[in-house]
Amino acid sequence: MKPISIFVAIGLSALTLSGNAQYTFAQTLPAVLEDRDFLWDGAPDPKLFDLGRDLFFDPILSGNRNIACGTCHDPKRGTGDGVALSIGEGGDGFGTDRHTVDPVTGRVPRNAQALYNVGARAYGSFFHDGRLEVNRMGGFPSRLRSPAGKDLPEGISNALTAQAMFPVLSSIEMAGQPGENAVADAVAQNDVARAWRLLANRLAQTQGYADRFVESFPEIAKPQQIEFRHAAEALAAFQSVAFRSDQSPFDARLEGASLSSRAEAGLQLFYGKARCSNCHSGPLLTDHGFHAIAVPQIGPGKGHGDDGSYAAYSGFEHRTEDHGRASVTGNSADRFRFRTPSLRNVALTGPWGHDGAFDTMESMVRHHLDPSASLKAYLAVALLPLDHAIQPVVNRSSTSFRMLDPALRPAFDLRDVWVHTSPRLQRNILQANELAPVALTEQEIGELLAFLNSLTDPTARDRSHLVPETVPSGLDPQPRYDRH
Ligand code: HEC
Ligand code: HEC
Repeated sequence: MKPISIFVAIGLSALTLSGNAQYTFAQTLPAVLEDRDFLWDGAPDPKLFDLGRDLFFDPILSGNRNIACGTCHDPKRGTGDGVALSIGEGGDGFGTDRHTVDPVTGRVPRNAQALYNVGARAYGSFFHDGRLEVNRMGGFPSRLRSPAGKDLPEGISNALTAQAMFPVLSSIEMAGQPGENAVADAVAQNDVARAWRLLANRLAQTQGYADRFVESFPEIAKPQQIEFRHAAEALAAFQSVAFRSDQSPFDARLEGASLSSRAEAGLQLFYGKARCSNCHSGPLLTDHGFHAIAVPQIGPGKGHGDDGSYAAYSGFEHRTEDHGRASVTGNSADRFRFRTPSLRNVALTGPWGHDGAFDTMESMVRHHLDPSASLKAYLAVALLPLDHAIQPVVNRSSTSFRMLDPALRPAFDLRDVWVHTSPRLQRNILQANELAPVALTEQEIGELLAFLNSLTDPTARDRSHLVPETVPSGLDPQPRYDRH
Protein backbone atom coordinates (compact mmCIF):
# COMPACT_ATOMS: atom_id res chain seq x y z
CA MET A 1 0.00 0.00 0.00
CA LYS A 2 1.43 3.34 -0.99
CA PRO A 3 0.42 6.70 0.42
CA ILE A 4 -1.36 9.02 -1.98
CA SER A 5 1.13 11.83 -1.49
CA ILE A 6 3.72 9.93 -3.54
CA PHE A 7 1.49 10.01 -6.60
CA VAL A 8 0.81 13.66 -6.18
CA ALA A 9 4.55 14.23 -6.12
CA ILE A 10 5.03 12.18 -9.29
CA GLY A 11 2.31 14.13 -11.01
CA LEU A 12 3.82 17.44 -10.14
CA SER A 13 7.37 16.48 -11.01
CA ALA A 14 6.26 15.18 -14.41
CA LEU A 15 4.67 18.53 -14.94
CA THR A 16 7.83 20.41 -14.15
CA LEU A 17 10.04 18.06 -16.15
CA SER A 18 8.04 18.43 -19.30
CA GLY A 19 8.31 22.16 -18.98
CA ASN A 20 4.58 22.86 -19.03
CA ALA A 21 4.76 24.87 -15.86
CA GLN A 22 2.13 27.30 -17.11
CA TYR A 23 -0.50 24.60 -16.54
CA THR A 24 -1.40 23.80 -13.02
CA PHE A 25 -3.20 20.54 -12.47
CA ALA A 26 -6.84 21.37 -11.84
CA GLN A 27 -6.81 18.26 -9.76
CA THR A 28 -3.90 16.15 -8.66
CA LEU A 29 -3.69 12.73 -10.22
CA PRO A 30 -5.87 10.13 -8.56
CA ALA A 31 -4.74 7.31 -6.32
CA VAL A 32 -4.25 3.81 -7.69
CA LEU A 33 -7.33 1.55 -7.45
CA GLU A 34 -6.97 -1.19 -4.86
CA ASP A 35 -8.98 -4.25 -3.85
CA ARG A 36 -10.51 -2.47 -0.88
CA ASP A 37 -12.00 0.13 -3.26
CA PHE A 38 -14.37 -2.57 -4.54
CA LEU A 39 -17.38 -4.29 -2.99
CA TRP A 40 -16.44 -7.47 -1.13
CA ASP A 41 -12.89 -6.02 -1.13
CA GLY A 42 -12.67 -7.25 -4.69
CA ALA A 43 -13.14 -10.91 -3.73
CA PRO A 44 -16.72 -12.13 -3.28
CA ASP A 45 -17.28 -15.83 -2.68
CA PRO A 46 -16.49 -17.64 -5.96
CA LYS A 47 -19.79 -19.56 -5.64
CA LEU A 48 -21.68 -16.28 -5.64
CA PHE A 49 -19.66 -15.04 -8.62
CA ASP A 50 -20.42 -18.21 -10.61
CA LEU A 51 -24.12 -17.97 -9.82
CA GLY A 52 -24.17 -14.33 -10.89
CA ARG A 53 -22.33 -15.19 -14.07
CA ASP A 54 -24.97 -17.71 -15.13
CA LEU A 55 -27.76 -15.32 -14.26
CA PHE A 56 -26.16 -12.47 -16.18
CA PHE A 57 -26.17 -14.38 -19.46
CA ASP A 58 -29.34 -16.46 -18.94
CA PRO A 59 -32.55 -15.21 -20.62
CA ILE A 60 -34.51 -16.78 -17.76
CA LEU A 61 -34.67 -13.39 -16.03
CA SER A 62 -36.70 -11.86 -18.87
CA GLY A 63 -40.48 -12.18 -19.00
CA ASN A 64 -40.55 -13.88 -22.40
CA ARG A 65 -37.22 -15.67 -21.80
CA ASN A 66 -35.71 -13.97 -24.81
CA ILE A 67 -33.10 -11.48 -23.52
CA ALA A 68 -30.38 -11.44 -20.87
CA CYS A 69 -28.29 -8.73 -19.19
CA GLY A 70 -25.44 -9.81 -21.47
CA THR A 71 -27.45 -8.99 -24.60
CA CYS A 72 -27.03 -5.28 -23.91
CA HIS A 73 -23.87 -5.52 -21.78
CA ASP A 74 -21.71 -7.64 -24.03
CA PRO A 75 -18.21 -8.38 -22.66
CA LYS A 76 -16.86 -8.26 -26.19
CA ARG A 77 -18.49 -4.92 -27.03
CA GLY A 78 -17.16 -2.69 -24.30
CA THR A 79 -19.84 -4.06 -21.93
CA GLY A 80 -22.43 -2.21 -24.02
CA ASP A 81 -24.13 -3.27 -27.24
CA GLY A 82 -22.36 -1.08 -29.76
CA VAL A 83 -25.48 0.76 -30.85
CA ALA A 84 -26.75 4.20 -29.89
CA LEU A 85 -29.99 2.94 -28.36
CA SER A 86 -30.68 -0.66 -27.49
CA ILE A 87 -33.38 -2.80 -29.02
CA GLY A 88 -34.57 -4.64 -25.95
CA GLU A 89 -37.05 -7.46 -25.48
CA GLY A 90 -38.34 -8.85 -28.78
CA GLY A 91 -35.15 -8.15 -30.71
CA ASP A 92 -32.94 -10.68 -32.40
CA GLY A 93 -29.17 -10.78 -32.99
CA PHE A 94 -26.41 -8.89 -31.21
CA GLY A 95 -24.58 -5.59 -31.51
CA THR A 96 -25.12 -3.69 -34.73
CA ASP A 97 -26.82 -6.76 -36.24
CA ARG A 98 -29.63 -6.63 -33.74
CA HIS A 99 -33.04 -6.09 -35.31
CA THR A 100 -36.69 -6.59 -34.49
CA VAL A 101 -38.34 -9.84 -35.48
CA ASP A 102 -41.26 -9.49 -33.12
CA PRO A 103 -43.04 -6.19 -32.97
CA VAL A 104 -41.66 -3.95 -30.21
CA THR A 105 -42.96 -0.65 -28.89
CA GLY A 106 -39.69 1.11 -29.50
CA ARG A 107 -36.10 1.39 -28.54
CA VAL A 108 -34.69 1.85 -25.09
CA PRO A 109 -34.43 5.65 -24.78
CA ARG A 110 -30.82 5.72 -23.51
CA ASN A 111 -27.45 4.25 -24.42
CA ALA A 112 -26.58 1.04 -22.59
CA GLN A 113 -24.01 2.06 -20.02
CA ALA A 114 -20.62 0.44 -19.82
CA LEU A 115 -20.16 -1.67 -16.69
CA TYR A 116 -16.42 -1.29 -16.12
CA ASN A 117 -15.67 -0.91 -12.42
CA VAL A 118 -19.33 -0.65 -11.39
CA GLY A 119 -18.26 -2.69 -8.36
CA ALA A 120 -16.25 0.27 -7.04
CA ARG A 121 -17.56 1.44 -3.68
CA ALA A 122 -17.35 5.01 -4.95
CA TYR A 123 -20.50 4.45 -7.02
CA GLY A 124 -23.27 5.96 -4.91
CA SER A 125 -25.69 6.21 -7.82
CA PHE A 126 -26.55 4.32 -10.98
CA PHE A 127 -28.17 5.07 -14.34
CA HIS A 128 -27.55 8.15 -16.46
CA ASP A 129 -29.83 10.14 -14.17
CA GLY A 130 -28.76 8.53 -10.86
CA ARG A 131 -32.33 7.44 -10.16
CA LEU A 132 -31.00 4.69 -7.98
CA GLU A 133 -28.88 6.16 -5.23
CA VAL A 134 -27.65 5.78 -1.72
CA ASN A 135 -29.69 8.16 0.36
CA ARG A 136 -27.69 9.01 3.43
CA MET A 137 -30.69 10.58 5.09
CA GLY A 138 -32.29 7.14 5.19
CA GLY A 139 -36.06 6.87 5.04
CA PHE A 140 -35.95 4.25 2.29
CA PRO A 141 -35.53 0.51 2.69
CA SER A 142 -31.82 -0.29 2.79
CA ARG A 143 -31.18 3.49 2.61
CA LEU A 144 -31.57 3.39 -1.13
CA ARG A 145 -33.70 5.80 -3.07
CA SER A 146 -35.01 4.10 -6.19
CA PRO A 147 -37.93 4.09 -8.59
CA ALA A 148 -39.46 1.31 -6.46
CA GLY A 149 -39.70 3.62 -3.44
CA LYS A 150 -40.82 1.68 -0.38
CA ASP A 151 -41.26 -1.50 -2.41
CA LEU A 152 -37.52 -2.06 -2.58
CA PRO A 153 -36.93 -4.94 -0.15
CA GLU A 154 -34.89 -4.59 3.03
CA GLY A 155 -31.60 -6.40 3.22
CA ILE A 156 -29.92 -5.04 0.10
CA SER A 157 -26.37 -4.28 1.08
CA ASN A 158 -25.14 -2.09 -1.78
CA ALA A 159 -26.34 0.08 -4.68
CA LEU A 160 -25.08 -2.28 -7.38
CA THR A 161 -27.27 -5.05 -5.99
CA ALA A 162 -30.22 -2.67 -5.93
CA GLN A 163 -29.55 -1.69 -9.55
CA ALA A 164 -29.93 -5.31 -10.66
CA MET A 165 -33.51 -5.31 -9.33
CA PHE A 166 -34.59 -2.93 -12.11
CA PRO A 167 -33.79 -4.09 -15.67
CA VAL A 168 -36.22 -7.00 -15.16
CA LEU A 169 -39.02 -4.51 -14.40
CA SER A 170 -38.71 -2.62 -17.66
CA SER A 171 -41.29 -3.76 -20.19
CA ILE A 172 -39.16 -2.60 -23.08
CA GLU A 173 -35.84 -4.00 -21.75
CA MET A 174 -36.66 -7.38 -20.23
CA ALA A 175 -40.22 -7.87 -18.97
CA GLY A 176 -42.25 -7.69 -22.20
CA GLN A 177 -45.70 -6.30 -22.83
CA PRO A 178 -48.83 -7.02 -20.76
CA GLY A 179 -50.65 -10.08 -22.02
CA GLU A 180 -47.42 -11.78 -23.05
CA ASN A 181 -46.36 -13.22 -19.68
CA ALA A 182 -47.15 -12.98 -15.97
CA VAL A 183 -44.08 -10.86 -15.14
CA ALA A 184 -45.06 -8.28 -17.75
CA ASP A 185 -48.62 -8.24 -16.38
CA ALA A 186 -47.34 -7.60 -12.85
CA VAL A 187 -45.11 -4.80 -14.14
CA ALA A 188 -48.01 -3.23 -16.06
CA GLN A 189 -50.03 -3.25 -12.84
CA ASN A 190 -47.16 -1.62 -10.97
CA ASP A 191 -46.93 -4.66 -8.72
CA VAL A 192 -43.15 -4.86 -8.64
CA ALA A 193 -43.06 -7.17 -5.61
CA ARG A 194 -45.09 -9.69 -7.59
CA ALA A 195 -42.82 -9.40 -10.63
CA TRP A 196 -39.77 -10.12 -8.46
CA ARG A 197 -41.61 -12.99 -6.72
CA LEU A 198 -42.47 -14.62 -10.08
CA LEU A 199 -38.87 -14.46 -11.23
CA ALA A 200 -37.57 -15.82 -7.93
CA ASN A 201 -40.05 -18.70 -8.27
CA ARG A 202 -38.65 -19.48 -11.70
CA LEU A 203 -35.19 -19.78 -10.19
CA ALA A 204 -36.45 -21.91 -7.30
CA GLN A 205 -37.98 -24.28 -9.84
CA THR A 206 -34.88 -24.54 -12.00
CA GLN A 207 -32.44 -27.30 -11.21
CA GLY A 208 -28.96 -25.90 -11.33
CA TYR A 209 -30.10 -22.68 -9.65
CA ALA A 210 -32.15 -23.71 -6.63
CA ASP A 211 -29.40 -25.56 -4.74
CA ARG A 212 -26.80 -22.98 -5.50
CA PHE A 213 -28.83 -20.27 -3.78
CA VAL A 214 -29.09 -22.52 -0.75
CA GLU A 215 -25.32 -22.99 -0.79
CA SER A 216 -24.49 -19.32 -1.28
CA PHE A 217 -26.86 -17.68 1.19
CA PRO A 218 -26.93 -18.78 4.85
CA GLU A 219 -30.46 -17.38 5.28
CA ILE A 220 -31.83 -19.64 2.51
CA ALA A 221 -32.60 -23.11 3.86
CA LYS A 222 -34.86 -24.25 1.04
CA PRO A 223 -35.44 -23.01 -2.52
CA GLN A 224 -38.86 -21.49 -1.70
CA GLN A 225 -36.98 -18.88 0.35
CA ILE A 226 -35.14 -17.50 -2.67
CA GLU A 227 -35.99 -13.85 -3.23
CA PHE A 228 -35.08 -11.80 -6.26
CA ARG A 229 -32.73 -9.68 -4.16
CA HIS A 230 -30.53 -12.76 -3.74
CA ALA A 231 -30.25 -13.06 -7.52
CA ALA A 232 -29.46 -9.35 -7.64
CA GLU A 233 -26.67 -9.80 -5.12
CA ALA A 234 -25.14 -12.61 -7.18
CA LEU A 235 -25.36 -10.40 -10.28
CA ALA A 236 -23.56 -7.63 -8.40
CA ALA A 237 -20.82 -10.01 -7.20
CA PHE A 238 -20.29 -11.18 -10.76
CA GLN A 239 -20.21 -7.70 -12.30
CA SER A 240 -17.87 -6.28 -9.70
CA VAL A 241 -15.18 -8.86 -10.45
CA ALA A 242 -15.83 -9.60 -14.13
CA PHE A 243 -15.85 -5.98 -15.25
CA ARG A 244 -13.18 -4.61 -12.96
CA SER A 245 -10.65 -2.94 -15.19
CA ASP A 246 -7.56 -1.22 -13.83
CA GLN A 247 -4.70 -2.49 -15.98
CA SER A 248 -4.43 0.40 -18.42
CA PRO A 249 -1.31 2.38 -19.34
CA PHE A 250 -2.88 5.16 -17.24
CA ASP A 251 -2.81 2.87 -14.20
CA ALA A 252 0.83 2.08 -14.90
CA ARG A 253 1.45 5.83 -15.14
CA LEU A 254 -0.12 6.30 -11.71
CA GLU A 255 2.36 3.76 -10.40
CA GLY A 256 5.29 5.61 -11.87
CA ALA A 257 5.67 4.28 -15.44
CA SER A 258 5.72 6.63 -18.42
CA LEU A 259 3.11 7.16 -21.09
CA SER A 260 4.00 7.88 -24.70
CA SER A 261 4.96 11.53 -25.05
CA ARG A 262 1.72 12.30 -26.92
CA ALA A 263 -0.44 10.64 -24.28
CA GLU A 264 1.54 12.39 -21.53
CA ALA A 265 0.93 15.73 -23.23
CA GLY A 266 -2.76 14.78 -23.38
CA LEU A 267 -2.75 13.91 -19.70
CA GLN A 268 -1.42 17.35 -18.88
CA LEU A 269 -4.13 18.96 -20.98
CA PHE A 270 -6.78 16.76 -19.35
CA TYR A 271 -5.68 17.77 -15.86
CA GLY A 272 -4.75 21.27 -16.97
CA LYS A 273 -5.99 23.76 -19.47
CA ALA A 274 -8.65 21.56 -21.08
CA ARG A 275 -10.27 21.32 -17.62
CA CYS A 276 -11.58 17.82 -18.22
CA SER A 277 -10.75 16.77 -14.67
CA ASN A 278 -13.15 19.37 -13.30
CA CYS A 279 -15.76 16.68 -13.87
CA HIS A 280 -13.85 13.54 -14.91
CA SER A 281 -11.92 13.35 -11.64
CA GLY A 282 -10.74 10.64 -9.27
CA PRO A 283 -9.62 7.07 -9.99
CA LEU A 284 -12.69 6.36 -12.13
CA LEU A 285 -12.47 9.67 -13.99
CA THR A 286 -15.86 10.77 -12.81
CA ASP A 287 -16.98 13.10 -10.02
CA HIS A 288 -20.17 11.00 -9.73
CA GLY A 289 -21.99 14.29 -10.23
CA PHE A 290 -24.51 15.49 -12.80
CA HIS A 291 -23.81 18.06 -15.48
CA ALA A 292 -25.52 19.50 -18.54
CA ILE A 293 -23.22 19.57 -21.54
CA ALA A 294 -25.75 19.94 -24.38
CA VAL A 295 -25.41 16.50 -25.94
CA PRO A 296 -27.94 16.34 -28.80
CA GLN A 297 -31.05 14.41 -27.81
CA ILE A 298 -31.92 11.65 -30.24
CA GLY A 299 -34.32 8.74 -30.05
CA PRO A 300 -37.71 8.61 -28.40
CA GLY A 301 -36.53 10.48 -25.28
CA LYS A 302 -38.26 10.03 -21.96
CA GLY A 303 -41.41 11.95 -22.80
CA HIS A 304 -40.42 14.94 -20.64
CA GLY A 305 -40.56 18.60 -21.36
CA ASP A 306 -42.57 21.35 -22.85
CA ASP A 307 -41.50 21.16 -26.46
CA GLY A 308 -44.77 19.99 -27.98
CA SER A 309 -43.66 20.64 -31.54
CA TYR A 310 -43.25 16.98 -32.39
CA ALA A 311 -46.73 16.11 -31.14
CA ALA A 312 -48.18 19.03 -33.12
CA TYR A 313 -46.35 17.92 -36.27
CA SER A 314 -47.00 14.20 -36.12
CA GLY A 315 -50.19 13.67 -34.19
CA PHE A 316 -48.32 11.27 -31.86
CA GLU A 317 -48.92 12.58 -28.37
CA HIS A 318 -45.27 12.36 -27.43
CA ARG A 319 -42.49 14.62 -26.13
CA THR A 320 -38.99 13.80 -27.30
CA GLU A 321 -37.05 15.28 -24.37
CA ASP A 322 -35.04 13.54 -21.68
CA HIS A 323 -34.61 15.82 -18.69
CA GLY A 324 -32.04 13.55 -17.07
CA ARG A 325 -31.34 14.37 -13.44
CA ALA A 326 -34.31 16.75 -13.15
CA SER A 327 -36.68 13.81 -13.59
CA VAL A 328 -35.27 12.40 -10.34
CA THR A 329 -34.96 15.56 -8.24
CA GLY A 330 -37.88 17.52 -9.69
CA ASN A 331 -35.57 20.53 -9.69
CA SER A 332 -35.65 22.45 -12.98
CA ALA A 333 -32.01 23.49 -12.45
CA ASP A 334 -31.14 19.83 -13.06
CA ARG A 335 -32.68 19.75 -16.54
CA PHE A 336 -30.53 18.02 -19.14
CA ARG A 337 -27.98 17.04 -16.50
CA PHE A 338 -26.60 13.52 -16.80
CA ARG A 339 -24.17 11.64 -14.61
CA THR A 340 -20.55 12.21 -15.57
CA PRO A 341 -19.51 8.91 -17.14
CA SER A 342 -16.34 7.14 -16.09
CA LEU A 343 -13.79 7.39 -18.89
CA ARG A 344 -12.08 4.09 -18.18
CA ASN A 345 -12.00 2.11 -21.46
CA VAL A 346 -13.87 4.99 -23.07
CA ALA A 347 -12.37 4.14 -26.46
CA LEU A 348 -14.26 0.82 -26.29
CA THR A 349 -17.65 2.08 -25.14
CA GLY A 350 -19.09 3.85 -28.18
CA PRO A 351 -21.40 5.18 -29.40
CA TRP A 352 -20.92 7.99 -26.89
CA GLY A 353 -23.22 10.19 -24.84
CA HIS A 354 -26.27 9.22 -22.77
CA ASP A 355 -28.16 8.48 -25.99
CA GLY A 356 -25.26 7.41 -28.17
CA ALA A 357 -25.58 10.56 -30.27
CA PHE A 358 -21.88 10.54 -31.25
CA ASP A 359 -20.41 7.68 -33.22
CA THR A 360 -16.75 8.61 -32.70
CA MET A 361 -14.88 9.43 -29.51
CA GLU A 362 -13.32 12.36 -31.33
CA SER A 363 -16.68 13.97 -32.16
CA MET A 364 -17.70 13.53 -28.52
CA VAL A 365 -14.53 15.30 -27.36
CA ARG A 366 -14.91 18.07 -29.94
CA HIS A 367 -18.47 18.55 -28.71
CA HIS A 368 -17.07 19.39 -25.26
CA LEU A 369 -14.79 22.04 -26.70
CA ASP A 370 -17.69 24.03 -28.19
CA PRO A 371 -21.05 22.52 -27.21
CA SER A 372 -23.15 25.24 -28.79
CA ALA A 373 -21.53 24.98 -32.22
CA SER A 374 -21.57 21.20 -32.02
CA LEU A 375 -25.26 21.00 -31.18
CA LYS A 376 -26.21 23.41 -33.96
CA ALA A 377 -24.11 21.54 -36.51
CA TYR A 378 -25.23 18.12 -35.32
CA LEU A 379 -26.36 15.75 -38.01
CA ALA A 380 -27.57 12.50 -36.57
CA VAL A 381 -25.10 9.77 -37.33
CA ALA A 382 -26.93 7.08 -35.44
CA LEU A 383 -28.75 4.45 -37.45
CA LEU A 384 -31.92 3.69 -35.60
CA PRO A 385 -33.94 1.26 -37.70
CA LEU A 386 -36.90 -0.48 -36.14
CA ASP A 387 -38.53 -2.96 -38.51
CA HIS A 388 -41.64 -3.89 -36.59
CA ALA A 389 -42.85 -1.09 -34.38
CA ILE A 390 -46.12 -1.27 -32.50
CA GLN A 391 -48.16 1.48 -30.95
CA PRO A 392 -49.87 1.24 -27.60
CA VAL A 393 -53.61 1.85 -27.70
CA VAL A 394 -54.71 2.98 -24.28
CA ASN A 395 -58.35 2.55 -23.19
CA ARG A 396 -59.79 3.42 -19.87
CA SER A 397 -59.45 -0.16 -18.64
CA SER A 398 -56.46 -1.59 -20.47
CA THR A 399 -53.63 -1.12 -22.91
CA SER A 400 -53.46 -3.06 -26.14
CA PHE A 401 -51.09 -2.80 -29.07
CA ARG A 402 -51.40 -2.59 -32.81
CA MET A 403 -48.88 -2.41 -35.62
CA LEU A 404 -47.71 1.03 -36.52
CA ASP A 405 -49.87 2.52 -39.26
CA PRO A 406 -47.59 2.58 -42.36
CA ALA A 407 -48.81 6.07 -43.15
CA LEU A 408 -47.38 7.23 -39.83
CA ARG A 409 -44.02 5.59 -40.38
CA PRO A 410 -42.11 8.69 -41.60
CA ALA A 411 -43.37 10.74 -38.66
CA PHE A 412 -42.38 7.96 -36.28
CA ASP A 413 -38.86 7.82 -37.72
CA LEU A 414 -38.46 11.58 -37.67
CA ARG A 415 -39.06 11.50 -33.94
CA ASP A 416 -35.59 10.00 -33.50
CA VAL A 417 -33.85 13.07 -34.85
CA TRP A 418 -36.38 15.72 -33.86
CA VAL A 419 -33.59 17.75 -32.28
CA HIS A 420 -32.74 18.96 -35.83
CA THR A 421 -36.20 20.16 -36.42
CA SER A 422 -37.07 21.93 -33.21
CA PRO A 423 -35.28 25.23 -32.54
CA ARG A 424 -37.05 25.35 -29.21
CA LEU A 425 -35.66 22.02 -28.11
CA GLN A 426 -32.17 23.12 -29.14
CA ARG A 427 -32.55 26.36 -27.23
CA ASN A 428 -33.67 24.56 -24.08
CA ILE A 429 -30.72 22.20 -24.24
CA LEU A 430 -28.26 25.04 -24.80
CA GLN A 431 -29.64 27.15 -21.99
CA ALA A 432 -28.81 24.38 -19.55
CA ASN A 433 -25.25 23.87 -20.80
CA GLU A 434 -22.53 24.28 -18.13
CA LEU A 435 -19.44 23.80 -20.29
CA ALA A 436 -17.46 26.86 -21.28
CA PRO A 437 -15.74 26.56 -24.67
CA VAL A 438 -12.08 25.53 -24.57
CA ALA A 439 -9.69 26.50 -27.37
CA LEU A 440 -7.30 23.71 -28.31
CA THR A 441 -5.12 23.32 -31.38
CA GLU A 442 -5.55 20.31 -33.66
CA GLN A 443 -2.33 18.93 -32.23
CA GLU A 444 -3.64 19.29 -28.70
CA ILE A 445 -6.89 17.53 -29.59
CA GLY A 446 -4.79 14.66 -30.96
CA GLU A 447 -2.86 14.55 -27.68
CA LEU A 448 -6.04 14.52 -25.66
CA LEU A 449 -7.33 11.58 -27.71
CA ALA A 450 -4.01 9.78 -27.20
CA PHE A 451 -4.52 10.21 -23.47
CA LEU A 452 -8.08 8.87 -23.65
CA ASN A 453 -6.73 5.84 -25.51
CA SER A 454 -4.25 5.27 -22.69
CA LEU A 455 -7.28 4.64 -20.47
CA THR A 456 -7.95 1.40 -22.34
CA ASP A 457 -7.12 -1.70 -20.34
CA PRO A 458 -5.97 -4.27 -22.94
CA THR A 459 -7.69 -7.04 -20.95
CA ALA A 460 -11.03 -5.27 -21.48
CA ARG A 461 -11.00 -5.46 -25.27
CA ASP A 462 -12.48 -8.91 -25.40
CA ARG A 463 -13.84 -10.64 -22.35
CA SER A 464 -16.05 -13.01 -24.31
CA HIS A 465 -14.60 -15.85 -22.21
CA LEU A 466 -17.01 -14.72 -19.49
CA VAL A 467 -20.03 -16.01 -21.45
CA PRO A 468 -20.77 -19.57 -20.31
CA GLU A 469 -21.29 -22.35 -22.87
CA THR A 470 -24.60 -23.33 -21.29
CA VAL A 471 -26.83 -21.96 -18.54
CA PRO A 472 -29.09 -23.85 -16.09
CA SER A 473 -32.36 -22.89 -17.81
CA GLY A 474 -31.26 -24.77 -20.92
CA LEU A 475 -31.90 -21.62 -22.98
CA ASP A 476 -29.15 -20.22 -25.20
CA PRO A 477 -26.92 -17.88 -23.21
CA GLN A 478 -26.80 -14.34 -24.65
CA PRO A 479 -24.82 -12.98 -26.39
CA ARG A 480 -23.87 -15.70 -28.83
CA TYR A 481 -20.80 -15.24 -30.97
CA ASP A 482 -20.19 -16.61 -34.38
CA ARG A 483 -17.04 -18.58 -33.47
CA HIS A 484 -15.63 -19.69 -36.80
C1 HEC B 1 -32.24 -3.82 -23.31
C2 HEC B 1 -30.88 -3.59 -22.92
C3 HEC B 1 -30.47 -3.82 -21.49
C4 HEC B 1 -30.61 -4.98 -20.74
C5 HEC B 1 -31.25 -6.28 -21.13
C6 HEC B 1 -29.97 -4.69 -19.47
N1 HEC B 1 -29.46 -3.43 -19.47
FE1 HEC B 1 -28.34 -2.59 -18.02
N2 HEC B 1 -28.51 -0.79 -18.90
C7 HEC B 1 -29.10 -0.57 -20.13
C8 HEC B 1 -29.30 0.85 -20.33
C9 HEC B 1 -29.93 1.49 -21.55
C10 HEC B 1 -28.81 1.49 -19.16
C11 HEC B 1 -28.90 2.98 -18.84
C12 HEC B 1 -30.37 3.23 -18.47
C13 HEC B 1 -30.70 4.63 -17.95
O1 HEC B 1 -29.81 5.39 -17.59
O2 HEC B 1 -31.89 4.95 -17.90
C14 HEC B 1 -28.31 0.42 -18.30
C15 HEC B 1 -27.69 0.63 -17.06
C16 HEC B 1 -27.14 -0.40 -16.29
C17 HEC B 1 -26.30 -0.21 -15.12
C18 HEC B 1 -25.88 1.12 -14.53
C19 HEC B 1 -24.46 1.47 -14.86
C20 HEC B 1 -24.08 2.82 -14.35
O3 HEC B 1 -22.92 3.20 -14.53
O4 HEC B 1 -24.91 3.54 -13.77
C21 HEC B 1 -25.99 -1.46 -14.64
C22 HEC B 1 -25.11 -1.79 -13.45
C23 HEC B 1 -26.66 -2.41 -15.50
N3 HEC B 1 -27.32 -1.74 -16.49
C24 HEC B 1 -26.66 -3.79 -15.29
C25 HEC B 1 -27.60 -4.64 -15.90
C26 HEC B 1 -27.97 -5.95 -15.42
C27 HEC B 1 -27.39 -6.61 -14.18
C28 HEC B 1 -28.91 -6.44 -16.28
C29 HEC B 1 -29.68 -7.75 -16.19
C30 HEC B 1 -30.44 -7.96 -14.98
C31 HEC B 1 -29.10 -5.43 -17.31
N4 HEC B 1 -28.31 -4.34 -17.03
C32 HEC B 1 -29.92 -5.60 -18.42
C33 HEC B 1 -29.47 -1.55 -21.03
C34 HEC B 1 -29.76 -2.86 -20.66
C1 HEC C 1 -18.83 20.11 -16.78
C2 HEC C 1 -18.39 18.75 -16.57
C3 HEC C 1 -17.54 18.11 -17.66
C4 HEC C 1 -16.33 18.52 -18.15
C5 HEC C 1 -15.52 19.73 -17.74
C6 HEC C 1 -15.95 17.53 -19.14
N1 HEC C 1 -16.91 16.56 -19.25
FE1 HEC C 1 -16.86 14.95 -20.47
N2 HEC C 1 -18.75 14.49 -19.93
C7 HEC C 1 -19.49 15.14 -18.96
C8 HEC C 1 -20.82 14.60 -18.94
C9 HEC C 1 -21.95 15.04 -18.00
C10 HEC C 1 -20.89 13.63 -19.94
C11 HEC C 1 -22.13 12.82 -20.36
C12 HEC C 1 -23.08 13.77 -21.06
C13 HEC C 1 -24.27 13.13 -21.72
O1 HEC C 1 -24.20 11.97 -22.08
O2 HEC C 1 -25.29 13.83 -21.89
C14 HEC C 1 -19.55 13.56 -20.52
C15 HEC C 1 -19.16 12.66 -21.51
C16 HEC C 1 -17.86 12.51 -21.98
C17 HEC C 1 -17.44 11.49 -22.89
C18 HEC C 1 -18.30 10.35 -23.42
C19 HEC C 1 -18.24 9.20 -22.47
C20 HEC C 1 -19.21 8.10 -22.80
O3 HEC C 1 -19.01 7.00 -22.28
O4 HEC C 1 -20.19 8.31 -23.52
C21 HEC C 1 -16.11 11.73 -23.16
C22 HEC C 1 -15.21 10.93 -24.10
C23 HEC C 1 -15.72 12.89 -22.40
N3 HEC C 1 -16.81 13.32 -21.68
C24 HEC C 1 -14.47 13.45 -22.41
C25 HEC C 1 -14.18 14.69 -21.86
C26 HEC C 1 -12.96 15.43 -22.12
C27 HEC C 1 -11.81 14.95 -23.00
C28 HEC C 1 -13.05 16.60 -21.43
C29 HEC C 1 -12.10 17.77 -21.46
C30 HEC C 1 -11.96 18.38 -22.76
C31 HEC C 1 -14.32 16.59 -20.72
N4 HEC C 1 -14.97 15.42 -21.02
C32 HEC C 1 -14.77 17.59 -19.88
C33 HEC C 1 -19.05 16.14 -18.15
C34 HEC C 1 -17.89 16.88 -18.36
